Amino acid sequence: MTAETLAAYIRNKAGHAPVRVGLVLGSGLSHLADAVDGVTIPYADLGGFPHAGVSGHSPKLVIGDLEGVRVAVFAGRAHFYEDGDAAVMRRPLEVLKALGADTLILTNAAGSLREDIPPGELMLLSDHIAFCSANPLVGEHSEARFVPMDDAHDPAIRAALTDAATRAGVTLKEGVYGWFSGPSFETPAEIRMAKICGADAVGMSTVPEVILARFLGLRVAAISTITNMGAGLSDEALSHEQTKAVAPLGAVKIEATLREWLRTL
Ligand code: HPA
Repeated sequence: MTAETLAAYIRNKAGHAPVRVGLVLGSGLSHLADAVDGVTIPYADLGGFPHAGVSGHSPKLVIGDLEGVRVAVFAGRAHFYEDGDAAVMRRPLEVLKALGADTLILTNAAGSLREDIPPGELMLLSDHIAFCSANPLVGEHSEARFVPMDDAHDPAIRAALTDAATRAGVTLKEGVYGWFSGPSFETPAEIRMAKICGADAVGMSTVPEVILARFLGLRVAAISTITNMGAGLSDEALSHEQTKAVAPLGAVKIEATLREWLRTL
């Protein structure tokens, strides 16, 4: 099914008002979808959407209103580490574009490399580094594949999110996100390397989606919820259970920040 066909199917179910903003929810953040007053469609009903092995129990798309803004919430993300396909989120983002959106907000869980951004805090991505050399546009043959990536993390949206966080009483520091493929966590040596290279946090997602969003002409910003310190930076053992347990602390702050920001649109 093409993105246009899927968008038509979704409009039939959820109504024809154009979507303004897309939200991709990371590990442990999927309850944000419940905040939206709208129509839920399982990924399994949407041809070309990833659904097997996607993080989050039953991946779903929720279309509806949040703070009076029409949003499409992607609760369930597929990662590069599932099948080695960096473009695995391409169809959902193409559908977002076809539904009329011009803005994408990505969320994820990440490990911090900075003492001043401890677990439970948020980090707004100012930029990113792909330590994993995969790229979702490999195999794309149009000239549009040569996507400029300076200011990929939209400066105006970042400024607005920072203001919104202040109004919501949420601390939102900015930093550089380093993408590692996972699914294994990094080694302490990799974390030391990432820090020397300029990363402030590390995670296993988001970067391919930022590239795809810029390719599709969507404005994009991303927020990490810090669930742990990077490997070797604390005594705590890393695990996916820990990620899922700590992420909801950040989810509350992300929701408060996004609500404030949406009210300004
Ligand atoms: N590394 C990679 N991905 C993560 C981490 C981490 O430390 N924490 C949450 N997601």
